[in-house]
Amino acid sequence: MYPEIKEDAPLAALTTLRAKANARWFVEISDEAQLADVLKLPESDGPVLVLGEGSNVLFTRDFDGLVVRPRILGITDDGQGRVTVGAGENWHSFVMWSLEAGYVGLENLALIPGSVGAAPIQNIGAYGVELDAFVESVRVFDRASGIMSDLPAAKCVFSYRDSLFKRSPDRYVVTAVAFRLGREPALCLEYAGVAEELQAMQVDAPTPREVAIAIMRIRRRKLPDPAQIGNAGSFFKNPVVIPWVAEALMAENPDIPAWLGPEGVKLSAAWLLERAGFKGRREGDAGFSDLHALVLVNHGQATGAELLAMANQAQAAVQSRFGVALEPEPRII
Ligand code: EPU
Repeated sequence: MYPEIKEDAPLAALTTLRAKANARWFVEISDEAQLADVLKLPESDGPVLVLGEGSNVLFTRDFDGLVVRPRILGITDDGQGRVTVGAGENWHSFVMWSLEAGYVGLENLALIPGSVGAAPIQNIGAYGVELDAFVESVRVFDRASGIMSDLPAAKCVFSYRDSLFKRSPDRYVVTAVAFRLGREPALCLEYAGVAEELQAMQVDAPTPREVAIAIMRIRRRKLPDPAQIGNAGSFFKNPVVIPWVAEALMAENPDIPAWLGPEGVKLSAAWLLERAGFKGRREGDAGFSDLHALVLVNHGQATGAELLAMANQAQAAVQSRFGVALEPEPRII
């Protein structure tokens, strides 16, 4: 049976930045067969956009095409650590499910907004852990070939907030993610603040669940809640620069947070934005959070264009003051 296709559907409430925009066509699908059917309809001849829980997208205009929302649900566990999760499941609920089931590994990724299907697109990460370490394969519908397949993690080209899917945004629709999870505790407590939070909770030998609770406490304190104030988490990636650029910046700004990684030196975008005067800045209803400088916020009625203008202004200020280019993290339509 074909699902109902709506015309001129409002999108603001379906995104966490809540900028007003309409989709020419909108459909929710609940299984892979429905997806394949919908993608054969004339409404899908033009642009197609897949929208999960809308926590990593900014609409700056109406979308003149078909918006597809996968509501594919279900978690199957083979008992041996291979867990397959429907794209429409909520990410945080799945993390809590995995901990209840006795699996270890996803605890640092607690409370990240969004759906399981969206998680591999930008290879979500937090507190020293990235999703790709736990992905066995990603089940996708390839619009180029019309074929459904399970792409092994090695073919997904995962890197920092990036993947094959993010690079070819119109080609793949994720329908499920297969995880490989273990039961042996191998906690990652090195990220600044995590061990301190556990100490404040008076926990000496933390369980994965307790680590998740510590992460949730940190996130609730440091990041604005999208249910309270429109935002899409970090609006920019942390920029990676070549070592001599980092050295020059560190010579002038000895307190700039910087980490040496395989691709170069990663700098803190939040620090750059705060120094450029954007933490807590507000013009109309568009601004940056006063809790965390990296989070673009909609105080109420900001349009997508106003939010984008605020982001562009911040980018230009960081470029002119520090010579560093900031790259947006969410998808901008
Ligand atoms: N900082 C500031 N000003 C601020 C906030 C932070 O100067 O307003 C500095 C602090 O000195 C801190 C450093 O920035 O040492 C790093 O801050 P934080 O630990 O909050 O992490 P982040 O690099 O800003 C990244 C992710 C977040 C993730 C946290 C924790 C990116 C783009 N962002 O932020 O992810 O929660 O680390 O792992 O990599 C997201 O992607 O939406 C997101 C929220």
